[in-house]
Amino acid sequence: MTTGVSPNSLESIEELRRKAESELANIVTPEDAEKFRLDWLSKKGIVREVFRKVSEAAPAERKERGREANELRDLAEAGLEQRLATLTGGADTEPSIDCTLPGYPLPRGSLHPLMTIRNSIRDIFIGMGFTIAYGPDIESDYYNFEALNFQPDHPARDMQDTFHIAEKVLLRTHTSPVQIRVMELQKPPIRTIMPGRVYRNEEISARSYCLFHQVEGLCVDEGVSFADLKGTLLAFSRAFFGDNARLKIRPSYFPFTEPSVEIDVECFLCGGAGCSICKQSGWLEILGCGMIHPNVLRSGGIDSEKYTGFAFGMGIERIALLKFGIDDIRLFFENDVRFLRQFS
Ligand code: DAH
Repeated sequence: MTTGVSPNSLESIEELRRKAESELANIVTPEDAEKFRLDWLSKKGIVREVFRKVSEAAPAERKERGREANELRDLAEAGLEQRLATLTGGADTEPSIDCTLPGYPLPRGSLHPLMTIRNSIRDIFIGMGFTIAYGPDIESDYYNFEALNFQPDHPARDMQDTFHIAEKVLLRTHTSPVQIRVMELQKPPIRTIMPGRVYRNEEISARSYCLFHQVEGLCVDEGVSFADLKGTLLAFSRAFFGDNARLKIRPSYFPFTEPSVEIDVECFLCGGAGCSICKQSGWLEILGCGMIHPNVLRSGGIDSEKYTGFAFGMGIERIALLKFGIDDIRLFFENDVRFLRQFS
């Protein structure tokens, strides 16, 4: 032994204690710890030697010396354990955290791509003074069709394969019924957009799904003209697709508007030259719109002699598919995080 201390007297055990304590305090590497274990706690270590001396002590002294020896062993064992725990990153009275290390990145969620598109459409119209309204997903036949000027046996009802819940109760096939609900509650001037979910009993494929989202728009006031419709939708398109966006207006048919048109925006990917997204046409169809049919204004309780208005409706999925270059609408509904993560 290299301690130079003879464990013969009570006094010297006290000295050994102090020595053990100071050696323990100096353990900073695993090698130091191993050296301490060999010196103090191995078969040929100091603690064993102390116990051997105790057994040789006079009977009168033995009990007290034994107690001291036990204390020394406990101190060495517990002290070593604690130092080892510190070295391997375990608990200690001193913090073993390195505050300078970079933190673990937290997995962050992100908005669903459909909500991102909806929010930017919404914000552009809010910027133009539109308010927001919502209507129920479960609608009556009256709001979904009748009040929108669909005659009972009008073939246009077949344009939208409807999920019926009960007689005259259905899942809305478009957001246009909210137009009627807004007009019933508000007097002109009205400028409102109505985002929401719509349902159609269509075969599910890469291009169509039984559920999708629309944003409806409504503007009613004295003297609202087709020029206002064009100006509003051009301003929207430039804000959404870019300053150089150009629109093409094609005649169309909807029972609730007269005249009815569909609007195409020049393909923002190829600039009109023709690509796979626009199917070489240079144009992308983005929405339906028109001047509100007088019958529809009357359904909403609005004087069709005094007021005119325009309405429009666009599909959020369609715009999201174009904007993000996605080729399968079902991806929006599968909630596969590997897909969703790409939009964070
Ligand atoms: N509701 C129509 C649809 O789902 C879209 C639409 C067309 C809405 C013309 C309108 C409109 O408000 O004026 O296909």
